[in-house]
Amino acid sequence: MPSPARRFSTDRFLFGGDYNPEQWPEEVWHEDVALMRRAGVNAATVGVFSWAALEPAEGVYEFGWLDRVVEVLHAGGVGVVLATPTASPPPWFTRAHPDAMPVGPDGVRLSHGSRDTYAVSAPAYRDACREIVQRLAERYGSHPALLAWHVHNEYGTLDWGEHAAAAFRRWLQRRYGTLTELNRAWYTSFWSQRYGDWEDVLPPRATQYLANPAQVLDFKRFSSDEMLQALREQRDVIRATGSAAPVTTNFMLPTWNHLEQWSWSAELDLVSVDHYLDTVGPDGETHAAYGADLTRSFGQGDPWLLMEQSSTSSTVPGRRAHKSPDRVIRNSLSYLARGSQGALFFQWRAPAAGSEAWHGGIVPHTGAGSRSFRGFEQLGAVLTAIAEAAEPPAEGPLVEADVAVLWHAEGWWATDAPQLPSDLLDYSSTVRAAHRALWQAGYAVDFAAPGADLSRYRLVLVPSMFALDGQAVRRLEEHLAAGGHLAVWPFTGYADEDLHVVPGGYPGRLRHLLGLHVEELHPLAAGDEVLLEGDGTGPLRGRVWSELVVPDGAEVLAAYAGGDLDGEAALTRHRVGAGVAHYVSTFLDEEPLRRWLTAVCAQSGARPVLGAPAPEGVEVVRRRGARADHLFVLNHSGVPVRVTGPGTDLLTSSAADAGLRVEPRGWAVLRTTERDGWSAEALEA
Ligand code: GLA
Repeated sequence: MPSPARRFSTDRFLFGGDYNPEQWPEEVWHEDVALMRRAGVNAATVGVFSWAALEPAEGVYEFGWLDRVVEVLHAGGVGVVLATPTASPPPWFTRAHPDAMPVGPDGVRLSHGSRDTYAVSAPAYRDACREIVQRLAERYGSHPALLAWHVHNEYGTLDWGEHAAAAFRRWLQRRYGTLTELNRAWYTSFWSQRYGDWEDVLPPRATQYLANPAQVLDFKRFSSDEMLQALREQRDVIRATGSAAPVTTNFMLPTWNHLEQWSWSAELDLVSVDHYLDTVGPDGETHAAYGADLTRSFGQGDPWLLMEQSSTSSTVPGRRAHKSPDRVIRNSLSYLARGSQGALFFQWRAPAAGSEAWHGGIVPHTGAGSRSFRGFEQLGAVLTAIAEAAEPPAEGPLVEADVAVLWHAEGWWATDAPQLPSDLLDYSSTVRAAHRALWQAGYAVDFAAPGADLSRYRLVLVPSMFALDGQAVRRLEEHLAAGGHLAVWPFTGYADEDLHVVPGGYPGRLRHLLGLHVEELHPLAAGDEVLLEGDGTGPLRGRVWSELVVPDGAEVLAAYAGGDLDGEAALTRHRVGAGVAHYVSTFLDEEPLRRWLTAVCAQSGARPVLGAPAPEGVEVVRRRGARADHLFVLNHSGVPVRVTGPGTDLLTSSAADAGLRVEPRGWAVLRTTERDGWSAEALEA
């Protein structure tokens, strides 16, 4: 049976973004739609923060303006992604329901004045959400312009107040059944924390010293589940009205991680994400790929939607760098190549005032006579030219990958705890580093949930997953038994799902697979490094971590050179049945990590997209399609590249059999039915 996400298939890529007409007089709407048509925009996300405009007083509704907006867009050929406005309850709601405002861990109750200010467990909030969603769904649910429902916006407001405490207790009762079991899981014999009455169990509020890590982790699990329940309620209200449009909510990657995305994705018809580059420079391109691969994987390889990316610049610190038009196009193509059905932006028109006045828009403050707007017109033309690539294949994933990286929010949450053996352990950077190395080496990559079926992969990477449950371990065992390769990083598999350390030598969950045990942990201070020698590829430099590894059958490929661990095993390989388990006991720097992983990939039989690594700074992705595949070639480098193979560029109609030149910071999208016979080389500038 096709997954629900597969329902989302469009015959062209969506292009557009957040549209906030309530900020502008009506004559501007008409100018907006004329400009949208000029740029080829075909999708507008409307209503994201419109609650106060739709319901200015409790029970008083004003839909007239939205009716007109939808009609103006529809008449202009622009589809509507209609948001439910529940991320921002209006001021009257606070006065009527002060208890529905969130409380921080320090006991301070927030008030309105910004956005995202709600206590998700408060009955009044949930009732109000269902009510406004019901009215929207009844009114617009079968409108021909409706492309999708965008429920809420970036769920993620946590609450430590009384409503949350009651819901947390109910959640814990479902998970553990009895207080005895909760006491066991939370290890409450430590520091006199044993609970004798459910009423004593609280969210992890501000306390004197370190909080109980199992309680903190459970609170994060609970908060994700509670927000998911709120999403389900809205989805069910929408479906009950008979609206057939797919339902999504936008995840936020990668800095913000309050949701357990695998369980959320299973409830959505379409997985979507807001993705902002975390850095300027070429590493931004590896970051776009990371966000895209994660999101596609959350949706089990089906089409997904890039709901937001920055149009030119953002007001958020760290994301303020201006994106040039060519970068906007290359980034958009990277998301599309990796499975997005569209390139949507935050936002259509830069606001005149408010907290995000300095956030760029497709139409900037300077207006449509600008370089950046001309860039968006060019993007529109590119998307029209490559429209055929939007049609997904009848079955199978959009991108075929031989390599998977295990990813789970709990790995991140567990590693966020204070008082781990090192303060430098960083889940997201470690996983990102593994993905970046594979990007640089030219491999397609999926992410997989611990415990998921891994049979389609030749190589599985576990860069960081402190706690692993029994099912996750069984899947890794099966993977190796079937001849797969596994690569594991430090501080992985040390604990079970309750964060209880498995005794007998680290990593207790994986010792039998790796053929070793770790006797001592030697975390490094910031700035310190270790050298590994012996694998034949030259010295490998690592940071953050080292440890005393005792092989129990594993072959030692490289040993520590110098320091306390001089001569001790550092990099190992262990045959398990038909498979091989690789282990690295430090966090390698970028270049040695790429070297090690390239060797591991080759041993596992994984193939790079082109059959060989692409030139430096060149990204090549194969997106499978209905009648043919499409090879997206994105030249992020400063030198021209020649790509050669059995395909035709949709943008220039040039055949690539004898070589196609892709300019510096340029792109090509090649229709092909052949997987083999492709190569790319850098040319002299
Ligand atoms: C988020 C939100 C948007 C906007 C942008 C700014 O992704 O969804 O409403 O605030 O950030 O970058």
